[in-house]
Amino acid sequence: MRIMAFMGSPRKNGNTAKIVNAICKGAKESGHDVEVYNLSEMDNKGCIACDACQAKKVDFCSIDDKLTTLLPKIAEADCIIVGTPVYCIQVSGYTKNFIDRMRVFLEPDLTIKHLPGKRYITVTCSGAPAAAFSNVTEYLNQVFGFFKMENAGNLIVGNVREKDDIMEQPGILKQAEEMGRKLS
Ligand SMILES: Cc1cc2nc3c(=O)[nH]c(=O)nc-3n(C[C@H](O)[C@H](O)[C@H](O)COP(=O)(O)O)c2cc1C
Repeated sequence: MRIMAFMGSPRKNGNTAKIVNAICKGAKESGHDVEVYNLSEMDNKGCIACDACQAKKVDFCSIDDKLTTLLPKIAEADCIIVGTPVYCIQVSGYTKNFIDRMRVFLEPDLTIKHLPGKRYITVTCSGAPAAAFSNVTEYLNQVFGFFKMENAGNLIVGNVREKDDIMEQPGILKQAEEMGRKLS
């Protein structure tokens, strides 16, 4: 299975990164091919609503940035993992830009290309207790459900404000590894 993991936190080895890496570790142990991308390091632009993708003027996206080079790879992948910190009650801006750029997979007649049937996993991290921001996971499930992808797991993690707080919840990291290991 080809897996692409996208991290939406600017903290290099923060809570989101540690959890996503744990999922990736489990997935690699099960023999899957895993590539990890840090969205905050990629200088990705937001969608500019040029509609070139809708008018089929380009294969994927007209924007000249790293994410445009990854969109064809997403089309070929079997599973994507998206991890985001909760910022002001929603996904981070890096994550939102990534999601908006997925519009290239929407056809003008509102059918979806490339993504249907692929798996996805989400990870959200918040300073507040997990239950406070389940809305963010609901939003992500709505987005990936819209793209007809199949849910392979949601990790909703709370009480992680400082960079290493997740180390006090080793059970979550184990759960994350197990989630990756079970991917099939
Ligand atoms: C700009 C910003 C906005 C935030 N907004 C929220 C929020 O609305 N609710 C919350 O519980 N935590 C909020 N936090 C805290 C982060 O969600 C928390 O620190 C999270 O663990 C960060 O994940 P990371 O370590 O992967 O970066 C915010 C942090 C920042 C920097």
